[in-house]
Amino acid sequence: MIDRWTQGSIPEKPHTVFRDPKSGAIFYEECFTRMGFDGPYSILYHRRPPTQEVSTESAERGFRLRPAGAADPAALRRRLFDSDRLAAGGALIDARTPLLFNADVVISVSRPSESDSAFFVNGDGDDVYFVEAGSGRIESPFGTVPFRKHDYLVIPKGCIHRLLFDGPANRLFGIECRRGFHVPAQFRNDAGQLKMDAAYTHRDFVRPTLPGTADTESAPREVFAKKDDAWTRRVLAGSPLDVVGWDGYVYPVAFPISKFQPKTGMIHLPPTIHITFASGGAVICSFVPRVTDTHPNAIPCPYPHSSVDCDEVIFYVDGNFTSRRGVGPGAISFHPAGVPHGPHPGAYEASIGAKSTKELAVMIDTFAPLRATAEALAVESPEYHDSWKIRVEGSTTEIT
Ligand SMILES: [Fe+2]
Repeated sequence: MIDRWTQGSIPEKPHTVFRDPKSGAIFYEECFTRMGFDGPYSILYHRRPPTQEVSTESAERGFRLRPAGAADPAALRRRLFDSDRLAAGGALIDARTPLLFNADVVISVSRPSESDSAFFVNGDGDDVYFVEAGSGRIESPFGTVPFRKHDYLVIPKGCIHRLLFDGPANRLFGIECRRGFHVPAQFRNDAGQLKMDAAYTHRDFVRPTLPGTADTESAPREVFAKKDDAWTRRVLAGSPLDVVGWDGYVYPVAFPISKFQPKTGMIHLPPTIHITFASGGAVICSFVPRVTDTHPNAIPCPYPHSSVDCDEVIFYVDGNFTSRRGVGPGAISFHPAGVPHGPHPGAYEASIGAKSTKELAVMIDTFAPLRATAEALAVESPEYHDSWKIRVEGSTTEIT
């Protein structure tokens, strides 16, 4: 939901007769709407009614959300998960591994090695992926969106799509936004345009191209749809890529994180300056290479903080993260509300005098507490919380 976009041929007015100029055959509208009929929408024009299908049945395929429940110790602690240890392989439709979740978001990592041979529809939320490794394209009725390493991908709830990868080594950090993805309201003016001091511009988004590179006729007819975490397999009567044109606000996009414009102050600015996208109950932030604070006595490293209303998750992508020792690409830290957190011992002092940082990371702050899945427990580094322990002089007791 960035701005209005259009591709292909559309009639002058919605809901009016629109025919193929060669054959005279009528095109069929599909109104793709949010918030009932009060929210953003797109209108697509198909060669065949989008409702036609051959079969519908429950499906055993697809990823699952498996809460750890009582297996997860209740004690508040700083946590670290290693996505390198998650199983890799298969197609994205099966390869997604949910790690942390609440009613608003599901945070996952996927390490697919193959392109999807069927289409996927997520009926539970908008999918935001950060491409930590790999490249390829999103194929959808809206057209084709090419993507590269370090792009965000935003795929609207209910959108038929599949990801086609260029190679076998792919890793996606995912946020399923169950209460809706949106651009932060403070980025827009009253007309809805992105303001000149927003973190990005309208020109920074990669939008679908129709017909793109998709071969409409040879596209799969098989669609796996997830709703309430249950899966349905549908076989369509024709290709879902039979769209001759569309316009509207709802469509998949890519956004290179390199287009995010960082801000630097005289002294350290709060993490809110890194906000990139938002969804109900959560914000998504980008930490990108940038110059650091300009005051001669500035401490560039983040100050220890108790952000008592937020759980915080960081996916480390590249560079040397200022505040962490021994935390490399692919690691995911989880600092729940209720535990003060901040730099590793020594990092605060060591940052004084630094003029720039090359860190690259994606952060999710949620307002409702997150819970772990069984898969998260299996790749947790239990010693992480203890990395803040210090030995008190003259005592044999370690304190944290
Ligand atoms: Fe924090």
